[in-house]
Amino acid sequence: MAAHDVALIPGDGIGPEVLREGRKVMDAAAEVAGIAWQWKEYPFGAEHWLKHRKGQPTLMSEKDMAQLGTHDAIYFGAVGDPRVPEHVEQAGALLWMRFYFDQYINLRPAKLLRGVASPLAGKKPHDINFYVVRENSEDFYIGLGGRFAGRQNRDLLELRRALYKARFQVDIDIDPEDEIAYQIGAITGRGAERVIRYAFELAKRKHLSRVTVVHKANVLTKIYGLWTETAARVAKEYPSIEFDTAIVDAVTMWFVRRPEWFQVVVAPNMFGDIISDLAAATVGGMGFAPGGNINPDRKAGVSMFEPIHGSAPKHGGLNKANPIATILAGKLMLEHLGEDQAAELVEHACEDILEAGKVRTYDMGGNSTCSDMGDAIAERILQLKP
Ligand code: IPM
Ligand code: MN
Repeated sequence: MAAHDVALIPGDGIGPEVLREGRKVMDAAAEVAGIAWQWKEYPFGAEHWLKHRKGQPTLMSEKDMAQLGTHDAIYFGAVGDPRVPEHVEQAGALLWMRFYFDQYINLRPAKLLRGVASPLAGKKPHDINFYVVRENSEDFYIGLGGRFAGRQNRDLLELRRALYKARFQVDIDIDPEDEIAYQIGAITGRGAERVIRYAFELAKRKHLSRVTVVHKANVLTKIYGLWTETAARVAKEYPSIEFDTAIVDAVTMWFVRRPEWFQVVVAPNMFGDIISDLAAATVGGMGFAPGGNINPDRKAGVSMFEPIHGSAPKHGGLNKANPIATILAGKLMLEHLGEDQAAELVEHACEDILEAGKVRTYDMGGNSTCSDMGDAIAERILQLKP
């Protein structure tokens, strides 16, 4: 039996404790499903940076990245610590992994599990059950922009004045000493196509009948014009799947008013970031929200699985965080590795424990610990052994 070779990055704050429970549950699932893990733990996080990389813009070195790239998958806790500049742990770790390994899919399922109360009135288990497929490599995340103050800004301000004049026939009043900042979002036809195609393939694989393409092409006509045109073209190849489009502001309303409508939702990077948090809230909060940063071509780049929540430094080390988001990220990892049966088992066990209602972490109004939850789910998996 070949073992799946997985890199573990516990990270900071609650990262280590939730990942410990994730690993516990993955070990139980492996035992039952007859698979094996080979874990290798990496120390990347605040302590490591302060000790070995202080002043560097990234948490990992290029050598570290190359090493991570040799694994079958990365199972990630969370990073973020007040002693380390934010950009080091966000752009210099999370975003870097996404870009470096070309993890162009960010798969964020939102499913209301049995035993979990939604803040939306009257929702029963599985009434909310859809996938957010977030584009993960382009859009406003490419880091292109600038800020200019004083004399340097004059050309940009003049440009802005000229644009307003040409488009709206108005003269705007500019102060040549004012500061100006801009940030550019860009997408490519290829980048849009690959993630939209993934969304349709996902719908096909999961026997779902609708893909909703999120945009704001009514205002941001250039960038999301390319996005929606690409979507319409790809959709033609999937005549049995309904092609639905929705403007992002309306999507936020419909996620609340009629979540049942949604099956697969594909969104540009930044809108996807925002709506996936909203989707998480509707299924019980960040404690239930996993994410897969996926390069579907396993040979081209390693994929990384994480809870969407951050490191919550003030809760770190207290053994109180809800590990379910991390455990469900493990489920996504199992699916990515082709272990569908084990993946189903993990979700099934989570639902059984949640439905039984005896083990509840603080976010669910209970006082069970993080390890109580991990233990209960791991035990349940062993009981489900056929
Ligand atoms: C997420 C986070 C990240 C993002 C930040 C921490 C860089 O919010 O994974 O959703 O914006 O993608
Ligand atoms: Mn986010």
